[in-house]
Amino acid sequence: MVVLYLNRSGPGEIGIQWNGVRGLEEKLASERILIVDDEPYVRTLMAAMLEKSSYTPVLAANGLEAIEHLEHDPPYDLILSDIVMNGLDGIGLLERIRELQPDTPMVMVTAIHDVAVALSAMRKGAYDYLLKPFEKEQLLVTVRRALDYRRLVQQNLVYRHNLEQLVSARTEMLRQAMTDLERSYDITLEALGDALDLKDAETEGHSRRVTAYTIALARHCGVDLAQTRVIARGAFLHDIGKMAIPDAILLKPGKLTLEETAIMREHCTRGYQILRKIPFLEEAAEIVYSHQEFYDGNGYPRGLKGEEIPLGARIFSVADTLDAITSDRPYRKASSYPAARREIERCSGTQFDPAMVEVFLGLPDSLWEDLRAEMTRHPRFSPLSFAGAIEDLKV
Ligand SMILES: [Fe+2]
Ligand SMILES: [Fe+2]
Repeated sequence: MVVLYLNRSGPGEIGIQWNGVRGLEEKLASERILIVDDEPYVRTLMAAMLEKSSYTPVLAANGLEAIEHLEHDPPYDLILSDIVMNGLDGIGLLERIRELQPDTPMVMVTAIHDVAVALSAMRKGAYDYLLKPFEKEQLLVTVRRALDYRRLVQQNLVYRHNLEQLVSARTEMLRQAMTDLERSYDITLEALGDALDLKDAETEGHSRRVTAYTIALARHCGVDLAQTRVIARGAFLHDIGKMAIPDAILLKPGKLTLEETAIMREHCTRGYQILRKIPFLEEAAEIVYSHQEFYDGNGYPRGLKGEEIPLGARIFSVADTLDAITSDRPYRKASSYPAARREIERCSGTQFDPAMVEVFLGLPDSLWEDLRAEMTRHPRFSPLSFAGAIEDLKV
């Protein structure tokens, strides 16, 4: 293979590197084999045979010397080791190698009367054994096979590593796609919310504010982020059923008759019916259904009581009242946050879950003022898509 490369020392110079046969030779020569034998003649003979075949032999007279090499001069592609040696013997060395270089194959080189020991070494993880005396060809075949085995093991490792990387890259892509999908869902929801705002201009900005308040309150109640997103969607769409209420009732300036009130109250069920068919809004639909329920059972439409009311709806109802009291209406001016605080405290246990009220009372008015200011400053800001960001606004 011819490789063109830019020579950095001389700007503009282009060199050509012949990376073919020489590369292969270098690769063979780079295969380092550690020969461990206490007989100098045996190890020198093996080294000579291997050197002739372009391997790089390194010699050690016993197990301890071999460990020295493995620790200070790694890596080795193969270890050829005698079994019976003074100090650390071949079996002891095998055990250490499984710790130091577990992927390096070890071939036991042994006299004929040690075959049983050689077999037991193989059970302990040696790759093969070679009986002394041996011919050069036998040595080379054994070495070649052991090195091929090592290459397979390494390729397998690389393959596994690549596979793991591929899986994690694909998982990340999937996660990103899910996030994008969720974002598109939220954009659709915002369009729905905007449509309601157009119909019922009197409460403009109410959906966004109440969503921001609900998120803050939910997080302080210990609700996790995933569940907070569900609750946020329920809060944002709580009055979506009002789309189904005739304008003559929805926008009537005066007091509603009993019959009109009954129709108006249908907005919870209507909203639920609209949303429950949408799979990712199933849970949010439950909150929409229950958002006008009272803790003591005097709410509507089902008269649910206490914990029969979904947690999200119990949290929402505090946020909803807070915004209703602190916002202008055509028939009255907005009240202050302390006034809202007193009213919510008064209705603890009747309209509201006392546990939610307690969390609410523990939070400063400045939190709600900041969130309201933020929603007013950025009218296009979506509390749905930025549930995490809302959390960051906490004081
Ligand atoms: Fe409502
Ligand atoms: Fe509301």
